[in-house]
Amino acid sequence: MTVREIVTLPDPVLRRKAHKLTNFDKEFTTLVNDMVETMRAAPGVGLAAPQVGVSERLIVVEFGDEENEESPKKLFVVANPEIVEASDEMVTAIEGCLSLPGLVGEVERHEAIQVKGLNRQGKPIRIKAQGWLARIFQHEIDHLEGVLYPDRATRVWQPSETEEIEVVE
Ligand code: NI
Repeated sequence: MTVREIVTLPDPVLRRKAHKLTNFDKEFTTLVNDMVETMRAAPGVGLAAPQVGVSERLIVVEFGDEENEESPKKLFVVANPEIVEASDEMVTAIEGCLSLPGLVGEVERHEAIQVKGLNRQGKPIRIKAQGWLARIFQHEIDHLEGVLYPDRATRVWQPSETEEIEVVE
């Protein structure tokens, strides 16, 4: 496994619509493993393939139970992810992004969603997510469309060193 370089704006790959995955071969497995490694090293709770310069529809998310900090984190690998259901209820919170260092923004997202896609074996999966986990999925899936959180943010700012904010990155 290799930690890959995380690309930042204004790299055009971040603004491209990523390609659908059709081959779940060795190269795909290497990409999955490298993305997990890169996300953990950052550290971050989610990463989309365009953030390592690969314009393919693949995301990795790793997040623990927000109610119970002791519980182990859960790793999700989703190829060709699609939001198939979304709650009417919206929630606003602060997000950051590894591809936009030094910035945070206030973004409104669906409180709960269902995502379908393919796992690392290319088998169909469906994930129900709410709260922060739902937010992370929405943020990462946006990356596959070339959408970055400032496009949706009500405000974006550079937090000072001393500003204490809870950020999902
Ligand atoms: Ni991001």
